Amino acid sequence: MNEEPDKATRIELLRADASDCTRCDLANGRTKVVFGTGNPNAPLVIIGEGPGENEDRTGEPFVGRAGILLDEVLRECKMLRKHVFITNVVRCRPTKMEAGRLQNRPPTTEEATACITNWLVPTLEAIQPLVILALGAPASSAVIHKGFKMTQERGTFHDSKYAPYAIASWHPAYILRLQGEAFDAARAALVADMELARLKVIEARKEPPKTLF
Ligand code: URA
Repeated sequence: MNEEPDKATRIELLRADASDCTRCDLANGRTKVVFGTGNPNAPLVIIGEGPGENEDRTGEPFVGRAGILLDEVLRECKMLRKHVFITNVVRCRPTKMEAGRLQNRPPTTEEATACITNWLVPTLEAIQPLVILALGAPASSAVIHKGFKMTQERGTFHDSKYAPYAIASWHPAYILRLQGEAFDAARAALVADMELARLKVIEARKEPPKTLF
């Protein structure tokens, strides 16, 4: 009998493969590969941009200030990390040297393409989520469409090659750079978009399955 491995096994095999990845230059500067965390059987996958300093050190996604905000928002939508799977466009921290210290930077197109092809797409194929929540433009461009415009296109559902439904929202790190009313509005939008994603999971579970892979 030739049984397909279950989702958790597929994710653990991918995680092990990715642990010594050298498919792009980010391998040279990383401390740990940040593959992803949460429930491989989750109907909702949340995708960020890439690890920062704390994630690089611990190997876990969203463990810095942005992660604290993400956890708050999950909790406000009555969810915990164990109810979702959280990953990123890239699995290794992109850095630049500025003012004498290593700073985060967005991934290059080459870095993002290598990681999307080798790890993000296989992760989504293994999990087969009903809904994807993309945080920020790089994740939205990766799973919804290239050149995604956050200001015009966030907060509504889009087609995706990787899930029946995908929605984009503000990245928590972006929200943390805002102040006053702008901060409050963007944070509220993230809570609203997370709640839309949660409600879409409930709705989609009642629909006949759409086979994507
Ligand atoms: N920002 C991200 O996009 N991902 C992380 O894992 C942490 C911060």
